[in-house]
Amino acid sequence: MSTATAPASDQKINIIPSVLPADYARLGEELQALEKAGVDRVQWDVMDGVFVPNLTFGPDVIKSVRSWVDVPFEAHLMVVEPDRMLQQWVDAGCELVIVHAEACTHLHRSLASLKDMGAKAAVALNPHTPVEAVKNVVDLLDLLLVMTVNPGFGGQAYIKTMEPKIAEAAALLRNADHYVELEVDGGIGPETIDGAVKAGARALIAGSALFKYPEGLEYGVSDLRARARAAVPGLQ
Ligand code: DX5
Repeated sequence: MSTATAPASDQKINIIPSVLPADYARLGEELQALEKAGVDRVQWDVMDGVFVPNLTFGPDVIKSVRSWVDVPFEAHLMVVEPDRMLQQWVDAGCELVIVHAEACTHLHRSLASLKDMGAKAAVALNPHTPVEAVKNVVDLLDLLLVMTVNPGFGGQAYIKTMEPKIAEAAALLRNADHYVELEVDGGIGPETIDGAVKAGARALIAGSALFKYPEGLEYGVSDLRARARAAVPGLQ
């Protein structure tokens, strides 16, 4: 589909920070700084120490800072058995919840449950997991997340060999009867965002690269957005 006929939403670039590198002693202020910097959403990297070898936020942490900003929250659940707590993430103020295909025995039911809760539903795919894993649930998806690192930590190197997989995912989603946003996460920065967007990504998760800009968050968000828009003609 040429961008000339693509729905406006498919032409929109979303720059989304991972909260992972933030200063947890000043979480509210950090969120306000991200909102001021012009981010489109905020992603909470939820890790349980089992699905990935790291442990991060619970729903109460997210709930405690929900009122500090208006920007939408999304929860990336890098956890086993995500069905056990779906309602808590929604109640904590996450309007979009991302479960891992690898963690769901009944992925169709997990996604349908999120929709029943009034949340947007999404699936994340680890680098080894084929796009094929979600072809039977595209009708339930609001977003598909293709990981460009092996999840668990920030600051890892972008896995460029994921770009054909991003393109394959984009082709699958273009055939859906509704817009499904294609998001990538891991090692996204000024040197890698071009390749990810050219491959088809429209939502870019940036953690360490964004927080590392010496010019600050506002400059970083603008720079990443400009680089993403320059990658494909017509992107907004
Ligand atoms: C999985 C996490 C990280 C984080 C982004 O490990 O999901 O990918 O969001 O981290 P950076 O942008 O530092 O790679």
